[in-house]
Amino acid sequence: MSKAVEKVDDATRDFLDNMVETMHAMNGIGLAAIQVGVPKRILVMDLGKGSSRYPDEGQGKSSPLYLINPKIIDASEELSPYEEGCLSFPGQYAEVWRPAKVKVQYLDYLGKEQVLKAEGLLATCVQHEMDHLDGITFVDHLSALKRDMIIRKVKKSQRLKDDDL
Ligand code: NI
Repeated sequence: MSKAVEKVDDATRDFLDNMVETMHAMNGIGLAAIQVGVPKRILVMDLGKGSSRYPDEGQGKSSPLYLINPKIIDASEELSPYEEGCLSFPGQYAEVWRPAKVKVQYLDYLGKEQVLKAEGLLATCVQHEMDHLDGITFVDHLSALKRDMIIRKVKKSQRLKDDDL
């Protein structure tokens, strides 16, 4: 379980900048701090310049969002499906149903309180990344059968990679 950030300072901002760089380098649209080994309630997203998988979202322009201590304060009853992937499960995708719209309260890059109103891919992405902060990944939303299949595939491809070394 990731811990809340107590103070947003220059060290936090350096870390946020590094996270965005890492996310872009991995061609992702979201990244949680725990995915780079830091158990803090921090995530970054960039739907503008993330991924060839979502070409309609941005036009290739970077527009990073920095969310510190995010909290869902409202979620729609209506759910919507999205074919999700995750940098922690390379090459694996599966449909996950989540609230179609959410409001998220968070601290921004400067430590100011903000509210994000998200729908569509942004709503999916922020809920996916917030799950990471609580040790939950998208495969936890799937049936045990599908989850095991994805975990087996990822382990197998990691083994193949290790064999190359
Ligand atoms: Ni993920």
